[in-house]
Amino acid sequence: MRQKLAAGNWKMNGTSATLPELKALADTYGTAGVDVLICPPAALLHRAAEVIDGSAVAVGGQDCHADGAGAHTGDTSAEMLKDAGASSVIVGHSERRTDHNESDAAVCAKAETAMATGLTAIVCLGESLQQRDAGETLEVIGSQLAGSVPEQSTGDSLVIAYEPIWAIGTGKVPTLEQIGEVHGFLRAQLVARFGNEVGAAVRLLYGGSVKPSNATEIFAVEDVDGALVGGASLKATDFAPIIAALE
Ligand code: G3P
Repeated sequence: MRQKLAAGNWKMNGTSATLPELKALADTYGTAGVDVLICPPAALLHRAAEVIDGSAVAVGGQDCHADGAGAHTGDTSAEMLKDAGASSVIVGHSERRTDHNESDAAVCAKAETAMATGLTAIVCLGESLQQRDAGETLEVIGSQLAGSVPEQSTGDSLVIAYEPIWAIGTGKVPTLEQIGEVHGFLRAQLVARFGNEVGAAVRLLYGGSVKPSNATEIFAVEDVDGALVGGASLKATDFAPIIAALE
């Protein structure tokens, strides 16, 4: 039985003034039967970790460098994230793939380093609208999965987030059938590559315009083990009902 996961990605949003939202979440959901993770900007991570200390809410990073340390101005290592209190790190978000030209190989290297550091890697993948309209979705997803997911992945160290690019921040959501098709495909690919045990243990998140109003129906889709939420994770009053929909 896979534990459900509600993960919030604050992206480049939030300052110390936003931390009370995290505190409200930690106070409310400290004992929920759902894993709750918030990934604030790196500059806030250490303070966020202090805020959630003692609660069941965890914090994670939004990206890490593939190298352990060195001359990489502006980057953050997996070790630094862990030291700041992170348990997980998002890698390969489409915004990073686009803004920083990250290839599948680069994402895979980051995920490997994250796993070697003891962090869970949340590997993101998803098709563009053009690719979906061209009927290429499963081909694109399969290729991203093959190229971005490290060989040494385990059920604990890997989470996959399916985020159709056209659904991110747009209010557009795929049909439940479309979500189910991709998640079923991802599960089958994971089982084929890693075997039944690991393939069945990896959690598959859906991401892209998840809101309190659509969470329940999305979470009822087979092989949807939770969500990676952007905008609706910034306020505890929006994120709390999404978490509750997973219980
Ligand atoms: O990583 C989460 C994300 O890209 C979805 O963003 O704002 O559509 O929930 P949003």
